[in-house]
This record gives sequence, structure tokens and C-alpha cells, in this order.
Amino acid sequence: MNNSHLPVGVFDSGMGGLTVLKAINACLPAEDVTYLGDTARLPYGTKGRETIVRYTMQAAGRLVDMGVKMLVVACNTATSAALPDLRERYAPLPILGVVEPGATAAAHASRNGQIVVIATEATIASGVYQQAIARIRPDSQVLGRACTLFVPLAEEGWLKGSVVEGTAKRYLKDIFNPVVTASRPDTLLLGCTHFPPFVPVLRRVVGGAVRIVDSAATTAQCARGELAARGMLREDHAGVCRFLTTDNQARFARTGSLFLGYSLKRSDVEIVNL
Ligand code: DGL
Repeated sequence: MNNSHLPVGVFDSGMGGLTVLKAINACLPAEDVTYLGDTARLPYGTKGRETIVRYTMQAAGRLVDMGVKMLVVACNTATSAALPDLRERYAPLPILGVVEPGATAAAHASRNGQIVVIATEATIASGVYQQAIARIRPDSQVLGRACTLFVPLAEEGWLKGSVVEGTAKRYLKDIFNPVVTASRPDTLLLGCTHFPPFVPVLRRVVGGAVRIVDSAATTAQCARGELAARGMLREDHAGVCRFLTTDNQARFARTGSLFLGYSLKRSDVEIVNL
């Protein structure tokens, strides 16, 4: 049976995955997308692995039950903890994570192989980025740093200003110290989908010479390649997005609008219970 008419399912703990949704909309404008943000249980990044796996399996299971032709796990924390389990449970459904595409983008962007990855505590502790980048580029040196506070700041819609800038400096100033010139990292990888809106602030903190990369565009390209390879790409159709949350539609609409760059109304967002 050809499932090309079904939507692509995109999942995150909250708003972060909307950065990936935007890239999917740009790269695959004819695809319908169903987005689920598990805001009732956010953040995932400070939780233990078993909890993250359980939440991820439940959220993904809901999207699969609704009918999707592909699942994009637009959350690094969920990808790092649960991607193999998801693929095993839902085979042959194509399931993409964001870690491999992010690692590929960083490995290709860096000239000197010195890469800093910022992500949640759980993603950094899992070591997935360090391993994925080393596979693509064995000469690299990867430093991981957990930047936990960026997640609630993003969910609060505080994407710029003195609090965000102070937080970024506290996390990163020692690494991107302008006084130390020898062997400075030349690439900053955003290993959390909540972080791309902070790029203007991060740019000021790390300096103009550092390349800042994330996994959104590369993930969308992977999704396109995977759908094309399976003969499931849609054409001649204007893709429609459906938004689901596990708590507080009004809040999802408010912060989601900031992430998407267009206005979402409360009535555009549906509640699901996991
Ligand atoms: N957006 C998620 C990620 O990419 C993390 C947010 C959270 O801690 O729930 O890792």
C-alpha cells in the first residue's frame, strides 16, 4: 500500500521541534505535517534515560496510531535516548533523528575539527554527538557542554535580551575566550532544537569567526531523500500543518508563534493525552 497521502509526524518535548518543522515546510512544501509537543512533561533533558525513553515511546506511539508515513524525532534528547528502540518497535516505518544530521553538518562546517556541541544534560551525557562526529571526522575534537537553562528560556519566549545574553556568557565565555587564540573551536553545534532562536545572541558571545550550525536543514534534506527513495514524496498539493500538545493550547500558540514566525491561535492547537 502506498502511504504517500499520510502526513509526516514530527515530535519534540515542546517548541524546539518547530525549528525543524519550519525547515521541513521549506524543503517539503507539499507534505502535510502533524506536530506533537509534549509540553505537559517538558523538559526531557534533565530527566533520566528510562523516563525519556518512556515519554518518547508514548509520544511517538500516538503519532504512529494517528497514521504517519514517516516520523521525525525533532528532539536531540529523545533521539539520543530512544532512536534504536523506536526503529525496532515501528519498523519498517522510516524514523529520522536529529543527531546524525547535526553531526554531519558540524563535521562538514568545521575547518580545524574543533567543535563545541551545546545541548541538554541528557544529550551531552549520552555522548551521541561525540561518537557521531568522530565517525564522520576522526580527526575532530568535540567538547560538549550542557546548556540546560536555554530550554525554559525558549519555552518562555525569551529569545533575546540581557538574561539570555548573561546565560550564554555564563555557559560559553570560557570556551570562546577571545584572549586564547591557539586551537580555538571554530564551530558551535546547536545540539538542541530549542536553541536556533538564540543564534543572534550566541553570535555576539562566540564571535563572528565561529560557524554556528544546527540540524534543522540537514534533517529536512534527509527526510526528503528518504521519502523520495521510498516513492512517497507528495507533489501538487499545498502542505497543511496540524499542531498537537499535551498541555495548555494557549501557551503553545503564544510561544509557537514566536518560533514559527507566523501567528498561531489557540484554536489551531489540539490537546492529546498520552
Ligand atoms: N528540544 C529538546 C532537544 O532537542 C530538548 C528540550 C528538553 O529538555 O525537553 O534536546
